[in-house]
Amino acid sequence: MKVAILYHSETGNTERMAELIKEGAESVPGVEARIMRVERLDTAYLAEAAVAAFGCPTYEGTCSWQMKKLLDTPGLPLGGKLGGVFASQNWPGGGGADLAEITMIAGMLVRGMIVYSGGITSGSPPLHFGAVSTRRPQGFDEERCRKLGVNLAEKGLELFGE
Ligand SMILES: Cc1cc2nc3c(=O)[nH]c(=O)nc-3n(C[C@H](O)[C@H](O)[C@H](O)COP(=O)(O)O)c2cc1C
Repeated sequence: MKVAILYHSETGNTERMAELIKEGAESVPGVEARIMRVERLDTAYLAEAAVAAFGCPTYEGTCSWQMKKLLDTPGLPLGGKLGGVFASQNWPGGGGADLAEITMIAGMLVRGMIVYSGGITSGSPPLHFGAVSTRRPQGFDEERCRKLGVNLAEKGLELFGE
């Protein structure tokens, strides 16, 4: 099963999150994952993927305009896929990563995706809307990214098989 991880990143923090999510997803047998910048989508791979994760930095308390532009682009092959979100922010406790994630989730729902994180019922570390990191992911933030990858891969296999 293929997992596509789409992200916007200017200074590398969200990109590192994407790499960790890929690591987590590929730790699940039978799963391959690819990360792709919003500016250089591999649409052929995306079309084949059963799972698609979206990640961006928080800009002005919500999702970056570069990610919003992607989500507003007609014709992306997203319908019916399982999806999850991740976001980085500069300011812990209120930088806006949660709203960034909810904004991406709204776009994913409108595109007919099935949104999932695993929440607080899929083991440790717990996730809420998705993985969140403050600046470069370290420690608990790194674990949350890997866990999101594992959760999406396992749920994708459960829903779609190989
Ligand atoms: C235009 C702009 C607006 C930003 N707004 C916020 C914000 O509202 N809250 C916050 O916590 N961080 C904010 N940041 C910081 C970034 O979200 C943070 O540095 C992030 O980790 C950058 O991700 P990247 O390295 O993937 O580009 C902003 C950064 C920029 C460039």
